[in-house]
Amino acid sequence: MTNRPLVAGNWKMNGTSASAAELEAMGTGYDSALADNVELLICPPALLIAQLGSQDKIAIGAQNCHAKESGAHTGDISAEMIRDAGGKYVIVGHSERREDHGETDADVCEKAEAAYRAGLIAIVCVGEVESERRAGTTLEVVTKQVSASVPAGATAENTVIAYEPVWAIGTGLTPTPADVAEVHASIRATLIKRFGGDVGSKMRILYGGSVKPANAKELLAVKNVNGALVGGASLKAADFLGIAEAYRG
Ligand code: 13P
Repeated sequence: MTNRPLVAGNWKMNGTSASAAELEAMGTGYDSALADNVELLICPPALLIAQLGSQDKIAIGAQNCHAKESGAHTGDISAEMIRDAGGKYVIVGHSERREDHGETDADVCEKAEAAYRAGLIAIVCVGEVESERRAGTTLEVVTKQVSASVPAGATAENTVIAYEPVWAIGTGLTPTPADVAEVHASIRATLIKRFGGDVGSKMRILYGGSVKPANAKELLAVKNVNGALVGGASLKAADFLGIAEAYRG
């Protein structure tokens, strides 16, 4: 048995203080029956973490952190600062950070360790680009990323894996449920081999990439899919809740 499924919203570089109204609407639709079955998380721009964390229905997290606790790193924020602002989770190694900021698996691994140090849960992102999917190297690429990006100290409590095929992000394209099942089974096997059955079978593995209310039920029903990491469709309460509704009993 894995932990309670997680539907996480990554707002990326979207949202202002006025977004509190959208979060409030999400909280209103997230009733106790739904909360029994699924945990909800929003990762807004860092400037909004403290403000949005003032409610307690929906967990708040960050989209990135620096590996160090403090120091001369202009413009960066540490995992400890996220925790201090009320954050519970931090996304590390999103493909947009790997691409825009040249983050390597080793960098991602250090950031996940920083999350543990600060008492945050790390959401470690992996996923192949389109050329790798076409070349048939998806499983190889993802296995290597999981092995090198997830720290040795990972547990089912402090770590969540997010499989996001890069070509499916923001494109409206998604892999077939069979393709998702294949990659998630491979990630599960990698985790069990490395961390043992107790930890490896319980660690949550999210799917991300063009998840919306219309396809959520099908994608979230796939074996070894323990939730979703949602971009565009997490900005509006109706869409985000529409995805979470896939878990209503
Ligand atoms: P979209 O849901 O907009 O495709 O983005 C997915 C994503 O990158 C979430 O981290």
